[in-house]
Amino acid sequence: MNAGCLIEAVMAPSDALPRALAGPALGEPLRAILDGGRWAPSGDNVQPWRFHVLDGERVDVTLHGDDSFYETLWNAKGIFLAAGGLLETLRIVASQHGRRLDWQLASGTGNKRIRLRFTSDVAVASDPLQHVVAARSVQRHAYRLTPLTPAQRERLERSVGTGFELAWNETPGSRWQAARLNMKAADIRFRLPQTFETNQHILDWDQNFSPDRIPVKAIAVDALTRRLMKLLLKRWRWLDFMNRYLGATLLPSIEMDLVPGLACAAHFVLRFSADAADTTSPQATIRAGQAMQRLWLQATAEGLALQPSMAPALMAGYHRHPDAQPRFMAASRHVAESLADYARAPPHRIAFMGRIGTPRSSHVKARSVRKSLDELASKPDRPA
Ligand SMILES: Cc1cc2nc3c(=O)[nH]c(=O)nc-3n(C[C@H](O)[C@H](O)[C@H](O)COP(=O)(O)O)c2cc1C
Repeated sequence: MNAGCLIEAVMAPSDALPRALAGPALGEPLRAILDGGRWAPSGDNVQPWRFHVLDGERVDVTLHGDDSFYETLWNAKGIFLAAGGLLETLRIVASQHGRRLDWQLASGTGNKRIRLRFTSDVAVASDPLQHVVAARSVQRHAYRLTPLTPAQRERLERSVGTGFELAWNETPGSRWQAARLNMKAADIRFRLPQTFETNQHILDWDQNFSPDRIPVKAIAVDALTRRLMKLLLKRWRWLDFMNRYLGATLLPSIEMDLVPGLACAAHFVLRFSADAADTTSPQATIRAGQAMQRLWLQATAEGLALQPSMAPALMAGYHRHPDAQPRFMAASRHVAESLADYARAPPHRIAFMGRIGTPRSSHVKARSVRKSLDELASKPDRPA
């Protein structure tokens, strides 16, 4: 993939891209920094943040979405990982403007508010990863089998920084293990009544550049499977029937998990180091999100594609959920055991995982884009 091509495709004027920023009375460089920060990734492109600008240096970020069923499965880790990705993106963009970013979780807000301060600092050097902030995008299709070079692997390992490490699963056997694990987790995910409503709203069936969801054309299924999914997602009764008696999740899972899972250079697990003192607090998960975003941006700078695969980490926690249905408990326990075996680490050390490789094409036909800064502004009368 050529990052330049991607940036052009993403930033080219188009009706499908976010409208120009109307924005509150927001001065430079804060407007440019927040505008760049919008490109941080979040699970299902929910963008679980709102910005409240306090003055020319300080911004409050309010987090939301921790009460969704998926987030209740893993203590809102998805929200804090995404928040870490946002902070890292903001730090990188701010460096271009000679600003340093300091942040802290505001006490007494249930870990829902982060105070940011962007201070002018002559010691801040412009981070080279700023060039790929808008080009970084999840790629869910099959990649080439070309292995990572030792130099690429070394730069990716360095990108995650102190306190984290990357474990690689590159052999055909371990890619098969990863693909099977993702299939098992997807099978639970699509059978659960609790996830049906969320699954109904994640996909954007109309737009190839969706500002608030995932365009259906950005997932790895062919036209026929797309039509089947659209039909089954209309009524829970239909999906449940097809799942129980006709194995409806199998075909989408072969296309979305098995084929891409085998067709890549490697699967990776971003882990907290074995000696990490804290792996579970919101602060620790935010730090993991920062490492995730550095890894993803470094991959983009290397011309590599990346897709997270977090379903196993989510579904491994289902059997402990207070509303867990007995018929899925054994499958969830099985995912938890397979995940620990695959990641070669206990669950609390697993920060982020996915697959990586050389994409087959640099042409961007569909991707998630973002809400405008205006929509992401937290209005005093409409707290996020
Ligand atoms: C914490 C986190 C978890 C994610 N999990 C998955 C996943 O399991 N599978 C997947 O295909 N994409 C996953 N994504 C990718 C998001 O869906 C994607 O980043 C978002 O839709 C925005 O699209 P973009 O990355 O192309 O800008 C995840 C992203 C984040 C930040």
